[in-house]
Amino acid sequence: MFKAVLFDLDGVITDTAEYHFRAWKALAESIGIEGVNREFNEQLKGVARDDSLRKILALGNKTVSDDEFKRLMDQKNDNYVEMIQDVSPKDIYPGILQLLKDLHANGIKIALASASKNGPTLLAKMELTNYFDAIADPAKVAASKPAPDIFIAAAEGVGVDPKDAIGLEDSIAGIQAIKASGALPIGVGRPEDLGTDITVVPDTTHYTFDFFKETWEEKRA
Ligand code: BG6
Ligand code: MG
Repeated sequence: MFKAVLFDLDGVITDTAEYHFRAWKALAESIGIEGVNREFNEQLKGVARDDSLRKILALGNKTVSDDEFKRLMDQKNDNYVEMIQDVSPKDIYPGILQLLKDLHANGIKIALASASKNGPTLLAKMELTNYFDAIADPAKVAASKPAPDIFIAAAEGVGVDPKDAIGLEDSIAGIQAIKASGALPIGVGRPEDLGTDITVVPDTTHYTFDFFKETWEEKRA
């Protein structure tokens, strides 16, 4: 049986992946870069703020000074932070609250493995902070997703070997990170985006304790 579940946040716990997309698209267009569409956005999902901006600048064949780079990151984040002001418990994706309750009741550790520096604020806005036994700090890990570091840190935070954990993700970078950490990925989204070699469910109503037990039995027992 698995001992911990390592949660991504944006696009797994709530719909903030959509706000990240809109904020990056607006930022890109403000500097004359077109092409940040939903298809390109699959490459941004799960990716840290600086790495996301690097990908967007590469898309537009643009180079900027270090000061301008920082200003652009701040501009995107200020816009994003404005967008998430009204996030509340009603924005929690279907099934997630029940899942957290069931995991907790069954002694399964719960950890956050989000690349977002806004993660703790969002958990607080959704009144979910108390369900989390650990929150890995993305500012403290050496390499961001698709590197495994944040999932390893999240597992460490709850004293569990990543091999004994399930990782939840909506991004290809995150699925690669989970795989590299040794945890078992269960993706939410489309197999064509996340891979046909892993378990992928279409939406979070499928994220149930019973489904996780079945999947673990099938893949790990
Ligand atoms: C990830 C999101 O969770 O966090 C990315 O999927 C985002 O879209 C990244 O860029 C970093 O977030 P933030 O809030 O620190 O800029
Ligand atoms: Mg995500």
